[in-house]
Amino acid sequence: MKKLFIKTYGCQMNVYDSARMADLLAPLGYGRTDVPDDADMVILNTCHIREKAAEKIYSELGRLKKLKDAKRREGGAMTIAVAGCVAQAEGAEILARQNAVDLVVGPQSYHRLPEMIAKLARGAGHALETDFPADAKFDALPENNAGVGPAAFLTVQEGCDKFCSFCVVPYTRGGEFSRPVAHVLAEAKDLAAKGAREITLLGQNVNAYRGPGTDGEIWPLARLIGALAQTEGLQRLRYTTSHPRDMSDDLIGAHRDIGVLMPYLHLPVQSGSDGILQAMNRQHTAAEYLRLVERVREARPDIALSSDFIVGFPGETDADFEATMSLVRAVGYAQAFSFKYSARPGTPAAAARKQIPDDVKDARLQALQALLSAQQDAFNAGCAGRILSVLFEKPGRKEGQAVGRTPYLQPVHADGAAPLIGRVVDVRIEAALPNSLKGVLTRTLEKVLVH
Ligand code: 5AD
Ligand code: SF4
Repeated sequence: MKKLFIKTYGCQMNVYDSARMADLLAPLGYGRTDVPDDADMVILNTCHIREKAAEKIYSELGRLKKLKDAKRREGGAMTIAVAGCVAQAEGAEILARQNAVDLVVGPQSYHRLPEMIAKLARGAGHALETDFPADAKFDALPENNAGVGPAAFLTVQEGCDKFCSFCVVPYTRGGEFSRPVAHVLAEAKDLAAKGAREITLLGQNVNAYRGPGTDGEIWPLARLIGALAQTEGLQRLRYTTSHPRDMSDDLIGAHRDIGVLMPYLHLPVQSGSDGILQAMNRQHTAAEYLRLVERVREARPDIALSSDFIVGFPGETDADFEATMSLVRAVGYAQAFSFKYSARPGTPAAAARKQIPDDVKDARLQALQALLSAQQDAFNAGCAGRILSVLFEKPGRKEGQAVGRTPYLQPVHADGAAPLIGRVVDVRIEAALPNSLKGVLTRTLEKVLVH
């Protein structure tokens, strides 16, 4: 058995891609290992969304080169591959800057890894594969095998046509592509048969999904979710990430009508200022976003909302930032991610003249994060005393303990729940701790296990 070490950076899409690369390399005799030291193959699956991504990769490659040299001195060999969005953006530059790298493979081309490895073995030198489009990728991938847990991910859509002025995704991941419905349904069935009880549908812009259906029509995400809800053994569905512009009536309705669709929505807004939203090319106003939130809540009153925010976008004034704070107060988030604007070369916003000084960005980020974390704490505290269903996913730190998630995606740990991993069980929430909830089982283990 050859050892494969994959280090994953960035989003859930990359986590999914890393698992698929492991599946792809399994027939070549590679099994995953947790440390790079004596690996035969190392893949850095990279993310390019914020600054210094490439520099981080180069310093990681410097460390790997030492391991590779040491291995060679002992008569072994280590193949080093750079995959993901930095690979797409930097391409041949990586091979030029770090000669320890053997392979560079973009997100649309990694199904060709086995072929590239074979080419390398034949002594053809470095291999570079970052051509788009490669919509054949999904067809070429083997079934999802490595590590199907109770909560699985399934990529249904890739790429983005939105061109937000700060974002590299349309350049690194290419235009929108939706996988055919039949392929998605088959993969979901397979995941459920392997023990998945929850599936999160992934896409850079997942609610823009428009996949060729089984009836010759183009299916939107709501229809796909409706069909997936019938998958035997599947108890929960989620999807991420969504764009406000693509939040259609039928998708909002799905939150009311489809029981297995969890009451959680990650709906990035980025800013609460109309001027900044326009400069970001987000194609909606703050009021339109708030109206959308209202409609989602009418459909599913208990829905937990999450978002992404950028502070310090070029030209952002104190008043613009205050508008973001007001929007956050108006919505009340259960969870959120916030970032300082980082200029990504090649994107329109990077060329804007009014860049914001770092100390201003820091202060705004701190204020925003304090507000968001107070909202998160309030949301979690509001769950204390309630009985929530929890899908237990893995063992906890303490003996016999298990960790799972509520419908609202909060992590919960419960003593004595280890035998319930892979099940959805009612749990009484005793307390909200800083990063998780403490739960107790509502019935004795024996009673749960006979059901
Ligand atoms: N600077 C800061 N944050 C960014 N994001 C994307 N591009 C940038 C950037 N250039 C954030 C957005 C997006 C999330 C995935 O990353 O908030 O929703
Ligand atoms: Fe980037 Fe905007 Fe597309 Fe999201 S919607 S991936 S932020 S371009």
